[in-house]
Amino acid sequence: MMPVATMMLDDTPMFDPNILHELDWSENTTTFSPAISPLDPGDGLVLRPLCTADLNRGFFKVLGQLTETGVASPEQFIKTFEHMKRSGDYYVTVVEDTNLGQIVATATLVIEHKFTHSCAKRGRIEDVVVSGECRGKQLGKLLTSTLTLLSKRLNCYKITLECLPKNVDFYKKFGYSVSEENYMFQRFFN
Ligand SMILES: CC(C)(COP(=O)(O)OP(=O)(O)OC[C@H]1O[C@@H](n2cnc3c(N)ncnc32)[C@H](O)[C@@H]1OP(=O)(O)O)[C@@H](O)C(=O)NCCC(=O)NCCS
Repeated sequence: MMPVATMMLDDTPMFDPNILHELDWSENTTTFSPAISPLDPGDGLVLRPLCTADLNRGFFKVLGQLTETGVASPEQFIKTFEHMKRSGDYYVTVVEDTNLGQIVATATLVIEHKFTHSCAKRGRIEDVVVSGECRGKQLGKLLTSTLTLLSKRLNCYKITLECLPKNVDFYKKFGYSVSEENYMFQRFFN
């Protein structure tokens, strides 16, 4: 994707970053060695909400290591960002390497509102990916733990995700188990 005129993009976060930093990290059930946390993800790294300026920091390059991102214009990106921000139910979270000014990892928590379970909320973890050169540095664990705790903090009655069989053991680290339900889908477009 071509660099976009900086004036169109800014550092306004998709959601209040304090909610990440105020999580009770002692409730995290995964082991981190060395110890890292949302407030202190490692040297030169920052864990924070997505902002539109991340378009020029390689956000799509990282997402592209998970799946086909297709071609999106900056206007489309901003429109989708604003929609998510306005809804208040999207927590697109990134890790930035501030020395490089590059996004190196991302994951999303989406909150679904239900009429069932006394009008409860359900969390969904989506689009977890760490850039190839940064894998194995606990960033995938950090993002998944953070968003799982966040869903609890937001009073979700449960949290779910879909993953390939090869990633099942990764998510078991955070307390997820394989459901007896089938994941069904129908694809309309690529
Ligand atoms: C899966 C992914 C997010 C993990 O992130 P990562 O930064 O490489 O992993 P971390 O350094 O945070 O975690 C390492 C730990 O997870 C384990 N782990 C990493 N990937 C794993 C996998 N696919 N299956 C099982 N365990 C895995 C490691 O063994 C290690 O365990 P330990 O802490 O007990 O030593 C990353 O490999 C990735 O981006 N993969 C491609 C995209 C993808 O498949 N995303 C998941 C979509 S559902």
